[in-house]
Amino acid sequence: MAALITGATSGIGCHMAKKLSHMGFDTILVGRNKKMLDIMSEELGSGTKTIQADLSKPEECFELYESLKNEKIEVLINNAGFGDFSYFDEGSIEKQLSMIDLNIKAVHILMKLFLGDFIDKGYGYILNVASLAAFLPGPKMAVYYGTKAYVYRLTMAVREELRRRGSKVYCGVLCPGPVATNFNKRAGVSFAKRGIDPEYCAEYAIEKMFEEKPVIIPGTFEKLLPLLTHLSTDALQTFFCWEFQKQKEKTPNK
Ligand SMILES: NC(=O)c1ccc[n+]([C@@H]2O[C@H](COP(=O)([O-])OP(=O)(O)OC[C@H]3O[C@@H](n4cnc5c(N)ncnc54)[C@H](OP(=O)(O)O)[C@@H]3O)[C@@H](O)[C@H]2O)c1
Repeated sequence: MAALITGATSGIGCHMAKKLSHMGFDTILVGRNKKMLDIMSEELGSGTKTIQADLSKPEECFELYESLKNEKIEVLINNAGFGDFSYFDEGSIEKQLSMIDLNIKAVHILMKLFLGDFIDKGYGYILNVASLAAFLPGPKMAVYYGTKAYVYRLTMAVREELRRRGSKVYCGVLCPGPVATNFNKRAGVSFAKRGIDPEYCAEYAIEKMFEEKPVIIPGTFEKLLPLLTHLSTDALQTFFCWEFQKQKEKTPNK
């Protein structure tokens, strides 16, 4: 049985791939960075396949599915994603649209295509990586927060469709708070509060996925955030999110 992990060249995805490999899964690692794919392949050894793809291009998502649809894949982790720290009007429209293509469209396409096969087979796990950002309107990262809200809502709705039809296929969503990865560098932001360890985040997520938890949130304080949002208004959430976001500083995107 194999696990397909997008964004497996860095951060959370890289550690998820290692964890699944240690658990005995064959792994299929996807990303753009060929050098990192080779390093990961060497580290994980036989049973690892790497595919270089830019998933912000929908045609590459369809090609990825076509190249893998006959493999015995049991786990799909839609992890690849990025953010951008800027005012909505000042940010690059190309980058914003590319973010929507990767964070929303790639998740949507891969989930839809693989889910059909998993339903036919009667098994499979799909874990979509959203964020705590899914629960809030996020000034200065408005598009990113919006993309993660889509991933969260899509996952929860599809999960219910599966449950109501008695399907054994698992569908869940990972919603971490800040994690210490390359995410901030790529988003062009620095923040005094250090994120949690990506290895811990990844291992916790895989463990909870196999326990079939619907919403996976590493950290005690972080788990409270969705509850607090249910008890407050959108206006209050936006106010407090602004207060949080204003502590961050813009840095050059890397
Ligand atoms: N770090 C955080 O604070 C945090 C918090 C909540 C949620 N998340 C979410 O966690 C996920 C993983 O992020 P991370 O923190 O691990 O960041 P990261 O270290 O920057 O990793 C991002 C991964 O996504 C891949 N990726 C980026 N653009 C891609 C593209 N166009 N096509 C294919 N792959 C692409 C990257 O691979 P290549 O560069 O090789 O393409 C890399 O493997 C993201 O969805 C992020 O939104 C992160």
